[in-house]
Parts: sequence; C-alpha cells; structure tokens
Amino acid sequence: MADAAVLRDVGVLVVGDRVARVGPPDELERTRPDAKRIDCGRGVLIPGLVDSHTHAVFGRPRYEEQEMRAAGVPYMEIAKRGGGIHASVRDVRQRGLDDLADLAEVRLRQLASYGTTTVEVKSGYGLTLEEELKLLRAIARVAERVPMRVIPTWLGAHEIPVEHRQRGDGGASYVKTLVNEMLPAVTSQRLARFADVFCEPGVFTLDQARTILSASRRAGLALKLHADELEPSGGAELAADVGATSADHLAAISDAGIAALAASDTVATLLPGTMLFLGRPRQAPARALIEAGAAVALATDFNPGTSPTVNFPLILTLGVSQLHMSASEAIVAATVNGAAALGLADHVGQIAPGFSADLALFDCEDIRELPYWYGDRRCRGTWVRGETCHPSSAPIS
Ligand code: NIG
Ligand code: FE
Repeated sequence: MADAAVLRDVGVLVVGDRVARVGPPDELERTRPDAKRIDCGRGVLIPGLVDSHTHAVFGRPRYEEQEMRAAGVPYMEIAKRGGGIHASVRDVRQRGLDDLADLAEVRLRQLASYGTTTVEVKSGYGLTLEEELKLLRAIARVAERVPMRVIPTWLGAHEIPVEHRQRGDGGASYVKTLVNEMLPAVTSQRLARFADVFCEPGVFTLDQARTILSASRRAGLALKLHADELEPSGGAELAADVGATSADHLAAISDAGIAALAASDTVATLLPGTMLFLGRPRQAPARALIEAGAAVALATDFNPGTSPTVNFPLILTLGVSQLHMSASEAIVAATVNGAAALGLADHVGQIAPGFSADLALFDCEDIRELPYWYGDRRCRGTWVRGETCHPSSAPIS
C-alpha cells in the first residue's frame, strides 16, 4: 500500500474496454497511429475511485438530526426515538420506484464528478419484502442509466423495523422474514451481489448476523458486514470467520478483531467521513490494521444519516489527516483495495494491461495533492470501460 507505483511522462493505450499498454506516449502512438489521443496535460491520472460502501438510494436528507447530535443526543438515541434509519424508512415507503431512481441518478452523477467510477449501493431503507425489492430495482434501473459500474448490495438487515420491534422478540421474527422471504426473492431475481448486516448492540446481534450471513452465503451471495461501528461487539471476528469480502466501519474494533482480519482475506473498509460527521472522537485504527497485514480500503459511506458526502477525495484527506495513512496508502485503499472489497480486484482498480479502462484525471501535478486540496473538486474527467463517464470539464494547464 505504501507504493502506489507513480510513473511520469507515460501514456495509457486503451483498446476496447481494457488497458492494453502503459508506456512512453510516442511508442504507443507508433503501435496505434489511428488511436484517438486525449491530452492529460500535466494532470494526475489514477485508476477510477472505487467507492465500495454507499447507501445512495434514499429519499429526503436528515439534516435535523445533525443539530440534535450537536445538542448532545447520540445517533443510537435518535434511532430509539424513531429517527435515524427509521425516519428514512418511513420516507422511502411513501415514494415510488421512479422517484427513488431519479434521486439516486443525480447522486451517482455527483459521485462520478469527484472521480468515482465504481460504486456499491445498498438497499436497507425499505425493510419489508416489497420495499426492499423496490430499492434494489431502483438500483438496477439507475445502473442502466449511468455509465459507472454499479454493484448492488441487499441490506434488508439494516435495522429492525418498528412493526417488528413492537413484537418485543428482539428481532427474531424479522430475522425469519429476512432469511425465509426476502433472501429467496432477492437471489431468484438476481437483484444483489452482496448481503450486508448492521451488526451493532441494539440492532442485530452477533448471532443474528451470523444466521443472516450464513443463509446469504448458501443462497449464493458474497458477504459484507457493518462491524464494530460504534461499540466493539466481535463484528470483525465474525466477518473474518464467515469469509466476508469486507468488514466495514471498524472504529471500535478490538485487538482480537484486528488480528482476525489480518489473518483473513476480508478487506477492512474504513469510513472516516462517518465518524467525522457524527462528531465522534474515535477513528478506526488504520495504522494498526495495515501494520498487522490487513488490506485496508476507504469509502464514503454516502448516506443521509451519518455521511452525506459524495466527495471521495475528501475521504482521502481524512485517511491521511485522521487515520494517519500516507497519500499512497490512501489512494491504494480507494482503488486497488476498494476493488478487492467488491471482489473485482482481478480487473478493476489498477492502470495495468488487461484491467478495465476505468480512469480518473485530476488537476494536480503530484498524487499527494489528491488528499491535500481538501473539499476541492479537482477531477477533470473519468472513463469507465474506456468510455467517457464524467466528461472532462476543463483543460489542464
Ligand atoms: O453505515 N450504520 C448503519 N448504516 C449507516 C447509516 C445509515 C443511516 O443513518 O441512514 C452507516 O453509518
Ligand atoms: Fe453504511
């Protein structure tokens, strides 16, 4: 992760949807004199950013909760009072698929304008069979409309819906609904590649998360887990044990959790924008994870409650200034390792022969400027599978 392999004065030859060669521009032009030439000036061209954790399909924003937290009401207390995820669920249930897809399309285009070319999108604001299917269909519809690569995740286990909480059975009846009704519908209609669970005291227990993930694996889905976000509960260990592709959040991971991830192929996906926005003092221990040998990815966690940002380069800034990563580590975490967190690392996340031609051009001269100009939008264009995704808006001098 410490060596992003920066090359200077090179060209990238794209044939079809793949990178064919990286080398001196005049040599590439000699081999393919007919090729269309795009001058990147003195900009920095990186693999398109891979945002492996978003909740980008939702209705209204939840700005009122930011003030409540500022006044001292914690995130989980807001949820207990019927706000938080429950508020987004009430809102989403009143909206049609078209409306949700239109809202998501705008948000995905905003993500693209900051350099993101692959985005994972979770359901999780429906929490009934029909409503979760509506969200997953909205994701599928948006995926057809935007040129980005969109990876859908079923997060029916995002919260125990109010109607099940009222039964007082600790969510047992809802876990049955998830496993026996929702999961078969999601998989038979091929609406998701991953299953995810919000494993946190007060939401889904470790045992419930294991039940849902094991059933999802048997049904053919790859696995993710919201693990150790606010309190340590053994989520990272569970993710490693069930062979999850990624364990996400980890701000409250234990030493045993760090060791478990380091000894596994599970990617540790860190979401520093969330802790910043929640105003929580503790960030995930990125250095300890990297030094133990875990693969660390960064992502936005873009959602209306805990991380309303589409600005992935800002997350790189937080990776460096809050998680103590180097610029190289942060960029690898947002490309190569983001792709690994989605099971795509064999063809996405690198500018190398055979890889998908997913590229992002930035108005910078040094990769260390990507996390440096914080909050700025320096992306000047992106390409996905060799096609223009976010159009280049200004020439680079
Ligand atoms: O990753 N923690 C659970 N899910 C989201 C928050 C979703 C919401 O508040 O709407 C997260 O932080
Ligand atoms: Fe999340």
